[in-house]
Amino acid sequence: MEVSLSEACRLLANGQVVAIPTETVYGLAASIHQPEAVNRIFSLKKRPANNPLIIHVPKAEAVAEFAAVLPDDFKLLADAFWPGPLTLVLPVRTKLISEQIRAGLETAAFRVPNHPLTLQILEEIGPLVMPSANLSGRPSATTRAHVETDFGPDFPVVDGGACSHGVESTILCQVGEKWQIARQGALAAEDFVQILGYQPEIASYQKEARPLCPGQLYRHYAPKAKLILTKQAKSCAGTIIGYSDRNYPLAEQLFVLGRSTHSEEVGENLYSVLRDLDLKGVSQAYVDIDVPLDGLWATILERLKKAAI
Ligand code: TXA
Ligand code: MG
Repeated sequence: MEVSLSEACRLLANGQVVAIPTETVYGLAASIHQPEAVNRIFSLKKRPANNPLIIHVPKAEAVAEFAAVLPDDFKLLADAFWPGPLTLVLPVRTKLISEQIRAGLETAAFRVPNHPLTLQILEEIGPLVMPSANLSGRPSATTRAHVETDFGPDFPVVDGGACSHGVESTILCQVGEKWQIARQGALAAEDFVQILGYQPEIASYQKEARPLCPGQLYRHYAPKAKLILTKQAKSCAGTIIGYSDRNYPLAEQLFVLGRSTHSEEVGENLYSVLRDLDLKGVSQAYVDIDVPLDGLWATILERLKKAAI
């Protein structure tokens, strides 16, 4: 159910949960000062309690209050990418952020989102926790309709149109002297080279006892359909997820991600396409993954691999 910006602010101030748009995906927002609302986010999403939430703030300066230390590169990264699809994990003064938000860690994740409506809400209400507005495990929501599919038609949503990036923020964590990519996202590893002077490594999640990003251990982004990733989609028969500039002569049904030459377009459409499979009752689809491995494609391929598990 669409709510206005002022209604959303009123609900948030009263300890309710409201879905609001960001440039990456829609988020389920609650004030960090409303523990019951934060609790409700976990129950609404059916999210495991050991998966911490990102704190969204209206500007980089707002992070200083919470951080135990600000790393040397903090300002460089914030100046280059905020507001925008970057999340930074930082050591925090734990008394200021509830255990529930941090999932018991001594760090917390921060981001300044780049969406005019949400920046206005943050200015008015203050810091908000905001996981993606989907049931745990399902593809994230990039439109109001997606939010309403997961949480029902009466759930309050601020409608900001379709999200421009369509995939989540990139999460950086410091490991020793260097930053690592704890979750791939809308910013590619290559995007950091100019700012950091090196390309951050993508963290590995092979049987880590203490994963850099707890959320990476869970099943994610999955439609009900079984996805089969292939570089030979051109010779597959059945339902194909492919590109508008390619031919699939044997396709019985085609879902289009965008042009194979435009990773941004594909990122923007990815979750909509995965959700459309469910709306159309598709039980199996071949996904054309004959695409480059670098830039935003790396994020898209990571999402598709997870969706196919
Ligand atoms: O683009 C985004 O980041 C979206 C929009 C709404 O801002 N939010 C989002 O939140 O993707 P969520 O909850 O779906 O994913 C947050 C991820 C989880 O994988 C969680 O484990 C990780 O951030 N995270 C949160 N706090 C962390 C911390 N202190 N250390 C490591 N990872 C953390
Ligand atoms: Mg999520």
